[in-house]
Amino acid sequence: MAADRIDGKAFAEKLRARVGEQAAKFEQAAGRKAGLAVVLVGEDPASQVYVRSKGKAVLAANMNGFEHRLAEDTSQEDLLALVEALNADDAVDGILVQLPLPAHLDDQAVIAAIDPDKDVDGFHIANAGRLAVGQTGFVPCTPLGCMMLLADRLGDLSGMEAVVIGRSNIVGKPMAQLLLDANATVTIAHSRTKDLAGVVRRADIVVAAVGRAEMVKADWLKPGATVIDVGINRLPAGEGEERGRLVGDVDYGPASEVASAITPVPGGVGPMTIAVLLRNTLVAAYNHAGLDQPEGL
Ligand code: GUN
Repeated sequence: MAADRIDGKAFAEKLRARVGEQAAKFEQAAGRKAGLAVVLVGEDPASQVYVRSKGKAVLAANMNGFEHRLAEDTSQEDLLALVEALNADDAVDGILVQLPLPAHLDDQAVIAAIDPDKDVDGFHIANAGRLAVGQTGFVPCTPLGCMMLLADRLGDLSGMEAVVIGRSNIVGKPMAQLLLDANATVTIAHSRTKDLAGVVRRADIVVAAVGRAEMVKADWLKPGATVIDVGINRLPAGEGEERGRLVGDVDYGPASEVASAITPVPGGVGPMTIAVLLRNTLVAAYNHAGLDQPEGL
């Protein structure tokens, strides 16, 4: 039987609508809109697309967007000065510096300069540390979005076997922390893992975040597993239908014959990232304004 398709797009739309309503209430209570500053350095085409869609989403959610586009050859000093100015700006609740930065800039130093209370990406080591020890802080948007989909689908994850494929600071590591926090038994697999297929086959929950097109095969999955595919890969330009198609890290068609539920690409995890960014920004705004967060944000 074919797996259920986990509709991240629909879930994200509902979350965005809810955040938008609550942002309107924030404006009434605080006397100002919540504000997100987005910093883009250089001309990376994919980053330009992301930044544009973040800007539109912020406005649609009744928040202010402050976009800062800097030249490719911006110095580290100038970028740090902008981050400092945004830290000090009371109209700014959240700061996002779009990654990757041009090679001459030190992304870790830039992230470290962001006020952790405005770090809506959850990339600052203060927030990574809070997540690691179970304190409240900002959690990176993509893994938090994956957790929302899993909780919606499965409810209590206690005792489930979860395998996260990929160990990035942005997805793999925080994803594993969140699953652990939800009492799953967690394995992080990566490029040096021996018998990856065998490891994945133990999993009730598979989160694939490696960035390799259709790497996870149907016969790696335990029948009935729930599969979250974080990958967004464009197939190389070829002939016919395959040409330039977007695919995930999981071989979707065959995998959906084995899994019980699976996120599609596109339309699965992708739309969750911006929705959670809006949610994190509103949380930052409530904290910044010294107001109690509404229930269920
Ligand atoms: N580049 C790709 N994804 C992200 C993200 O979630 N946040 C930032 N800042 N940069 C990114």
